[in-house]
Amino acid sequence: MAQRESWATRAGFILAAVGSAVGLGNIWRFPYQVGEYGGAAFLVVYLLLVALIGFPVMLVEFTIGRRTERNPVGALKQIGEGAWTKVGWVFVLAGFVILSYYSVVAGWILRYTAIGLQGNYAAGGAGAQFMSVAGGMDSVVTHAIFMAAIVTVVAFGIQQGIEFSVKLMVPAIIALLIGLAVYAGTLSGAGEAYAYYLSPDLGTIAANWTEILPAAAAQAFFTLSLGMGVMITYASYLGEDRNLAKDGTIIVALDTAIAFTAGLVAFPVLYTAELTDVAAGPSFIFVSLAQAFSNIPFGGIIGAIFFAIVTIAALSSAISIMEVVVSYLIDEHGVDRLPATIALGVVIFVVGLPVAYEPEGLNWLVVYDGFANSILLILGGLLLAIYIGWVATDLGIEELGKGIHNLGSWGMVWIWTLRVPVIIVLLIVLTQNTIGYYESLVGIFG
Ligand code: PFF
Repeated sequence: MAQRESWATRAGFILAAVGSAVGLGNIWRFPYQVGEYGGAAFLVVYLLLVALIGFPVMLVEFTIGRRTERNPVGALKQIGEGAWTKVGWVFVLAGFVILSYYSVVAGWILRYTAIGLQGNYAAGGAGAQFMSVAGGMDSVVTHAIFMAAIVTVVAFGIQQGIEFSVKLMVPAIIALLIGLAVYAGTLSGAGEAYAYYLSPDLGTIAANWTEILPAAAAQAFFTLSLGMGVMITYASYLGEDRNLAKDGTIIVALDTAIAFTAGLVAFPVLYTAELTDVAAGPSFIFVSLAQAFSNIPFGGIIGAIFFAIVTIAALSSAISIMEVVVSYLIDEHGVDRLPATIALGVVIFVVGLPVAYEPEGLNWLVVYDGFANSILLILGGLLLAIYIGWVATDLGIEELGKGIHNLGSWGMVWIWTLRVPVIIVLLIVLTQNTIGYYESLVGIFG
């Protein structure tokens, strides 16, 4: 096999992983989930799951990727036996589904950046405006534009495409978002917003944990780009022995800080605009927040900056999903990068068309997102935790220990975390989410 390209620098790898992690999950989904599941109560459970479940699973993906230097399908073929050799397919399937609707939503966000620049938020009513952006030919066109951007970056390869672009994008996201959070702190509704966002009510958690837990777990996986082999793929380009635990800590911390900061922007804006009747769910930033931007001073330009940040974040994540499938075609089928990327862009664009075109409502979005985010990613993570936790323990510890001189008994702490708490929580969550998904399908089609 041809010599595999590798990251030019350590920062390149970390920024690419942060770029993957920081995306629609942090700035589109996170605020609406906080709103849906009781404010700070959700935040607390989410933070716990990121640390206890997300971080150990990220290390699993890193070790498998660096050990095999392969895409997820090839990686499991190489080290696994029997049915384990097939597990990589879950990841490729998840990549197809996620990217297909991710690109659609990112296209809407791009459109909302332009609307802000024109000073037109909520023109003709926030809800009606969103429906016209999110359905029909408008939405198909923005989906196509965004997919073309993804294809362009990934076609240039690891160093010149992905590494180059994340070095621009990730610092831009961080700087702009911090600027907005500082601005939001000066708004009149900030105090009330912080109280809602930051003081958890333990009673709410106790009363609703059967709902909060599965939602927070799915959110933790989605936001950290886990369960579909992105981190396997990115770590497969690691040329030397790195301290994977250290890199993982930086990545998790930055991702979490950025989601948290997105909340520091969104909630003060909402409270200042005195929006009591907030649309929760996927339309949150498009309807409620856009409405709020139309009510506050400088809302057009502030909103445009906000949506521009989300657009950049979405692009830096979307390229990571595309890279999983592209690296699979390159490694396993010997296809060249350029044709592989273009062909995939076209196919995934077509898969996303129902979500893009649907003229009224967001039913197809719920169908796609529920399947990929709440089922496939959790399943993928669970299988990997079982694999390293119970089957290939030695391989995991050996690989993790390579860049860490004093791993000591921490290796076994990691393994036992995977073996018991991670697996139990993910099994509960998978069951709950499957039931929930079935019920939502019945609600839509039944
Ligand atoms: N982590 C990305 C986000 O928060 O938007 C989404 C994502 C990227 C999910 C890559 C899954 C994935 F494999």
